Amino acid sequence: MVPSVPLAPSLTLQPLFPLALGMVQLASDPLDTALQMQAIRQLQAGQESNPDPGCAWTGDLNGVWQLQRHPTFVSLIKLLMGHAGAYLEGLGFERSRVALHLQRCWPVVSEAGQVVGRHHHPNAHLSAVYYLNGDGSGRSGCLRFFPPRQSNELVPGLAVGHDGPIRPESAAAAQWNAPWFDLAPRAGLLVLFPSSVEHAVLENDDPDDSRFSISLDLALTAPKAANGEPPEYLAPHPGDWQEVELGAELG
Ligand SMILES: [Fe+2]
Repeated sequence: MVPSVPLAPSLTLQPLFPLALGMVQLASDPLDTALQMQAIRQLQAGQESNPDPGCAWTGDLNGVWQLQRHPTFVSLIKLLMGHAGAYLEGLGFERSRVALHLQRCWPVVSEAGQVVGRHHHPNAHLSAVYYLNGDGSGRSGCLRFFPPRQSNELVPGLAVGHDGPIRPESAAAAQWNAPWFDLAPRAGLLVLFPSSVEHAVLENDDPDDSRFSISLDLALTAPKAANGEPPEYLAPHPGDWQEVELGAELG
């Protein structure tokens, strides 16, 4: 066993630039949840993958991407969006100077052995996941987040290298050079994170239970121009946009 190396008395390590993972544990009603899972099963229309059998079924690729308009989900999504506003406030945003738009909202169902590969959501600014089931053990498949950049590994790639000089079992490596963070699904848990953060869903190892979640993509714009200052920094409100005719051929 490699002995731990105590920090010199004069050395302190201070974390800089933390990534904000928002979490809210909601008290979901079992009857509502059962109805929501039943509705998702109906929306799946018998499909169980994406279509690779090892990939979970995701509504966004199967025409089910406006769940917020489905009667079974309207009140739930409204509740979730209230917490999205709180997330922005938690980051220092002034709510009156931004408009938050729900772009799309889709269910994800992962059967035993299925995963969702590593990706991010380039179309959105803020993303969220709400879990309809999960016991907190992670056996139905953790949500794995990857750090945007690992400045503390000093040499790129060391933190995920095999048998490298960073001791993966050490508390120091876990704190300063973790190659990922795994979040275990739990029924009623809402998670919020910047859409640019790479993430994946690990394999569902539970042969007796499907993993149900709802994903949400949101975009920030300026408030409507009529309501305040001209937009700056943020894109103008979509209500102030004008669609351009693309009928004519270029060149
Ligand atoms: Fe995602």
